[in-house]
Amino acid sequence: MIRFWICAFVVFSGSLASCGGGGATNTPTSSGIEVSSSDIQRYAGHFSSACERIDEAVNLDLGGAVFARTYSSVTPIAPKEGGFSFRIDFFADSQCQTSFLGALVNENPANRIAIVGIVNASGAAADKVALSIFPPAASAVAGGTPGTVVYGSGIRLALPALLFQNWLRYDLWRLEGGRLLEGGLEEGADGFPVSLDRSTGSDRIAAVPVLPSQPCSSQVMQWAGSKGTCSAQAAAGLSSSQQWLRDDTEPATGSAGFNCSNGVWSEPVAATCLDSTPVLPDCPSQTLTWAVNGNTCSGIIPAAHIGQIEWADNITAGVMGAKQMRCVSSQSAPSGADWSELIFPVEAPTVKNEVCNALVVQPPVTDPLQILKNNNCMLCHSVSNQEPSFLSFQTIADHYRNNPPASGVLEAKIKSGGVGVFLNFPMPANPQISDKELAIVVPWILSR
Ligand code: HEC
Repeated sequence: MIRFWICAFVVFSGSLASCGGGGATNTPTSSGIEVSSSDIQRYAGHFSSACERIDEAVNLDLGGAVFARTYSSVTPIAPKEGGFSFRIDFFADSQCQTSFLGALVNENPANRIAIVGIVNASGAAADKVALSIFPPAASAVAGGTPGTVVYGSGIRLALPALLFQNWLRYDLWRLEGGRLLEGGLEEGADGFPVSLDRSTGSDRIAAVPVLPSQPCSSQVMQWAGSKGTCSAQAAAGLSSSQQWLRDDTEPATGSAGFNCSNGVWSEPVAATCLDSTPVLPDCPSQTLTWAVNGNTCSGIIPAAHIGQIEWADNITAGVMGAKQMRCVSSQSAPSGADWSELIFPVEAPTVKNEVCNALVVQPPVTDPLQILKNNNCMLCHSVSNQEPSFLSFQTIADHYRNNPPASGVLEAKIKSGGVGVFLNFPMPANPQISDKELAIVVPWILSR
């Protein structure tokens, strides 16, 4: 299972059509085999995949690799059609056990899995399934959006904003002793994979585990003070985040802090309401400098009230980092409040919440084939006619051999996609490829 989620994940900046090679754009042709032995009932239940590293995902705060485990569930609706929901849990450790970073959840009831045929793949009967994933709008939003929510633990994830857009995916599935075998990435002309991948399967599980920490929803909070009741609206917040709310409307004015813990807002903290000291003192905005593993970062932390937690984002060139501090009351500070180190509460109770990593500057890639691989071109193309692909560069070069294209035409086509010159299904847009890279690869393709 994880194969294609991760695939969708890493190619988000291009088009999802490039995921697994054009399967999203062409129409499945009838296999000619009756669907009879297959039944969506067989897939009813939950599946969990292996814990896999997502190479392209960066954990901004820890600077390290991100790992993901997927859970999917199929609910029968009709004999050959089911509801389909999934969740991707992100972790900083390679066992996906501790250091939960957040999750991407899509339980949209419009999601569907449909069995559309049977085929013989890798010597065994496999079901051809079509997956349609909705909603059509962006679905990776940090908190707040029902159905598709990124849960976090105070550590921010660099999640793409355009996952699973209008996503239709064809695949081969077969259940074998509680394991879900899935079609490999190589796909046939009808858009379905041609073989079953036995190395990366999902396991059937009894139930999807409870999310380690869920966000709190936006709601109106109330708190009582010595002389009345104050209220203010809390925004949706991630688990273990804190919000400081103020009620400035007469007659009852004051402020209070609220902590979000696994979906539940705490009782008000340090609440005042029409007190003699209605507004708590501030920790001043200031420039912080912090050093981790020999790298030095600095950044500005904004002013805050007692109880609030704030970030300073690094502004020094060549390093990437952030530091979190808590505003606490302090007798010695002139304002009555000062910044204090924030320590990881559970996992590493002596570690300050700060990171500072040196940025690795990658030399520009000049090898044409490497550029093509980096831009996912080789998912659909091969160099020569000897290797299987939708369209080889040799075929393209032959086509233009005595009739070279006007300058810029192929560059523009690669960037914005297009259809009809060779095949009747489109090449997706590749907006991420740079003009410098195009100047290297286009002459190279034409000289195959
Ligand atoms: C999802 C599959 C897919 C991916 C990924 C893909 N292509 Fe294509 N490419 C196609 C298809 C399909 C065509 C044929 C379009 C047509 O017939 O007009 C094509 C056509 C081309 C052509 C010929 C265009 C013409 O009009 O003569 C070139 C050159 C090309 N691709 C280069 C690239 C490069 C470079 C990349 C990577 C940045 C890339 N392709 C990525 C599917 C893909």
